[in-house]
Amino acid sequence: KKKMILDLDTGVDDALAIAYAVAAPDVDLIGIVASYGNNLLDVCAENSLKLLELLGQTDVPVYKGLPHASTSDHFEVMQVSLDIHGNNGIGDVDLPKPQRAVEKLSGVDFYIQAAHQYGQDLIIIPTGPMTNLAAALEKDPEIADLIGNVTFMGGALTVEGNVTDVAEANINQDAKAANTVLTSSLPLTMVGLDVTLRTLLTKQETAQWRALGTKAGQAYADLTDFYIDAYYNLGIDKNGCALHDPLAVGVSLDPSFVQTLSLFMKVIYDDHNYARTIGDKDKLNDPNPNVKVAITVDKERYLATFMNYLTQLFKEH
Ligand code: BDR
Ligand code: CA
Repeated sequence: KKKMILDLDTGVDDALAIAYAVAAPDVDLIGIVASYGNNLLDVCAENSLKLLELLGQTDVPVYKGLPHASTSDHFEVMQVSLDIHGNNGIGDVDLPKPQRAVEKLSGVDFYIQAAHQYGQDLIIIPTGPMTNLAAALEKDPEIADLIGNVTFMGGALTVEGNVTDVAEANINQDAKAANTVLTSSLPLTMVGLDVTLRTLLTKQETAQWRALGTKAGQAYADLTDFYIDAYYNLGIDKNGCALHDPLAVGVSLDPSFVQTLSLFMKVIYDDHNYARTIGDKDKLNDPNPNVKVAITVDKERYLATFMNYLTQLFKEH
């Protein structure tokens, strides 16, 4: 069984990523590292604890990551994040206060420990800023050659960004950290806007969860509907919401959902084109590029799998 760590700024689509990871067969979710992003670190950490409890996963530990970007000394939540994910990060759905607290070990040290313990069996899915993984690489550079795979949601290669013309939100939070990760020797898969914006969920699907009559089915339908409404109202997409973060989890387990282009990537982190993810022209002829960039997706098969897993899970909780 693969050992999986999610690194989340929980967030509605991060919440869907948790459900996918819990529901998928042959994966052992060994922990969640909390990040800042869609909301403050503490709110994101608490959201993950609440959702794990909702899904009956009280044995999955949550570790606190860093509270702000590597290039800053504070973090403020953007209004647009609150508009998209709700003031509480999970579509303003009110879930009970968690019975558990976060672990004492830091998220950064958990990464280092897990890399040494599980090596190639370890897969890491960052779906928020990559501040924590970059800090772990800086503290213990050896882990780059131990970890089996990192499949991150972030960036855009063939389409515009969603924050600026060139910047995607997760990369934009900490472009320097993203560059540290993308230029390391880690085996990486990039699941960016190129593919996530094509993978849409509608209220037809969420209605199926609500109809299950379970707590999880109801809560997930409500929080996802908030996100679908936000996509509509903000004019991001009138047809549904993008399955950014759960697509990264899906691709990490079944790479055949996407077609990829292998490249050495970098992230621009000076003022001009801040947070752009782009191929490194100085390495075009180097062998064995470290990043597989997803550029097309079999959205029908992915969506069918997504619905299959999540509906089964919500039936039981
Ligand atoms: C990414 O930004 C966050 O708001 C979402 O959770 C997703 O990870 C999309 O650009
Ligand atoms: Ca996210």
